[in-house]
Amino acid sequence: MRDVELLPIAPDLIESTRAIGYSFDTAIADIIDNSISAKAKKISIDINAYDDPYVAILDDGCGMDLEELKNAMRYGSTNPNADRNPNDLGRFGLGLKTASLSQCRKLTVVSKKDGVINACSWDLDYVIKTRAWKLIVFDKEEIGNDFPFIKSLLEQRSGTIVIWRNFDFLKESSITLEDSLNEKTNDIIYHLSLVFHRYLNNEDIKNRISIIVNNQKLTPLDPFLTTHTGTQVLPEEPLEILGEKILVKPYILPHFSKLSQEDKYMVGGEEGFKKNQGFYIYRNRRLIQWGTWFKMSRQEELYKLARVIVDIPNTLDSIWKIDVKKSSAELPNVIKVNLCNIIKNIVDKSEKVFTYRGRSVSSKSIMSIWKKVDNRGTFSYQINREHPLVKFYEESLNRDEHKKFEKFINLIQDSFPYDAVYVDVSKGNIKKEEYDIKEIKQNMREYIEAGLKTNLKLDDLLEALKIIEPFNRYKDAREDIIKEYTDVK
Ligand SMILES: Nc1ncnc2c1ncn2[C@@H]1O[C@H](COP(=O)(O)OP(=O)(O)OP(=O)(O)O)[C@@H](O)[C@H]1O
Ligand SMILES: [Mg+2]
Repeated sequence: MRDVELLPIAPDLIESTRAIGYSFDTAIADIIDNSISAKAKKISIDINAYDDPYVAILDDGCGMDLEELKNAMRYGSTNPNADRNPNDLGRFGLGLKTASLSQCRKLTVVSKKDGVINACSWDLDYVIKTRAWKLIVFDKEEIGNDFPFIKSLLEQRSGTIVIWRNFDFLKESSITLEDSLNEKTNDIIYHLSLVFHRYLNNEDIKNRISIIVNNQKLTPLDPFLTTHTGTQVLPEEPLEILGEKILVKPYILPHFSKLSQEDKYMVGGEEGFKKNQGFYIYRNRRLIQWGTWFKMSRQEELYKLARVIVDIPNTLDSIWKIDVKKSSAELPNVIKVNLCNIIKNIVDKSEKVFTYRGRSVSSKSIMSIWKKVDNRGTFSYQINREHPLVKFYEESLNRDEHKKFEKFINLIQDSFPYDAVYVDVSKGNIKKEEYDIKEIKQNMREYIEAGLKTNLKLDDLLEALKIIEPFNRYKDAREDIIKEYTDVK
């Protein structure tokens, strides 16, 4: 027996890895990961669609010397199983090359460390010509002014520029390369503002980073609307796997109609609001995957307010099966069970926000006019302001009327005759007033009309008759009304 060294054929392997499946967004995000791992605080991206089009990404991180730069350009520059610095966003030793060459044919990296600048290129056409792993290394005098951002790098203490040129894939996907690059600029702004929102908005200002795309500074997109007063933050749930902590933090968003234009954009518009419910998986605070329940729970109307942060450290990469593009993660069974319980809790809460809007159709609990309020051990009864009849009435009032209504409600609540009710109930003296059937039907119609005016769906309103007090007690009247409305429909 003997062994022979069998090296991959350079152009063929490079060509294959181009097809890993990066999009323009995920490819740029992978380059930014490297800048963040290199402790950059400012990352500038220039997408130039004209003349000799290029994409250039400059950071002010630690930079690389020539040996480090050459190693960085190697396919498989690090062992994926090696322990990484806890803040390192890399893993496979591939991203710089595969992400870049998935979008273009020529990758140039210029890096400055200890006052010295070096530059190297992978040029796919040169690799094809030589049929060898021939990295182009620039001599000092060849590092000229035609490199984008070079002037800025000269002024910085250290940093790196990643430059992409010769875009073939982009060219095929659109009418012109210019249009394609211009169009992608907007997508990039959204994608990066979301994926890196916790870096852009780091509570620790010293560690905050800024990302600038074509001179536009990105503002963080917070998918949980944490600063909105209507967002409910549920208690954090720590999970432990293989001695490592995973933090699960659920949020219930306010109802979509309560959001400002800016908030609506943050949550992804009306479509994204529903589609992006679910878990938000962060690896070292960088968003990897979002808007998924991992098939554990259906994406229903009632779930759409729930979004859950799942924070995983990079030490658990192997069990989460992070992919090379850092754009998906497979949930390990060990924690599936725990997350299931958490979802249940969240969905219960989410349901409450919907019943508040009178939209709940699946809740089995009756919506009473009076509700029992727990004041830490002692109880009082208050008018249930979430009850649709109360709500619709309240919404029909102007400001002055509303103030009067508020006073009136307080008066009734404060004078609730607890003692008398207690005595009468215990003696069995209480009999509920029954509505005249005509009157209750008229009340149902008024409720439906009011609901339709606020754009609620007729089917939902009719279904909710079953659980709204006092309609729930009048089955025949309900059926008549349902018939009346569905016949008209
Ligand atoms: N902007 C940068 N500043 C400093 N060093 C960098 C920069 N970009 C890349 N490097 C170095 O090059 C190495 C290779 O980067 P590459 O993205 O190919 O792999 P990785 O980040 O280690 O892992 P992954 O494949 O998961 O991204 C990095 O580990 C880092 O040491
Ligand atoms: Mg990387």
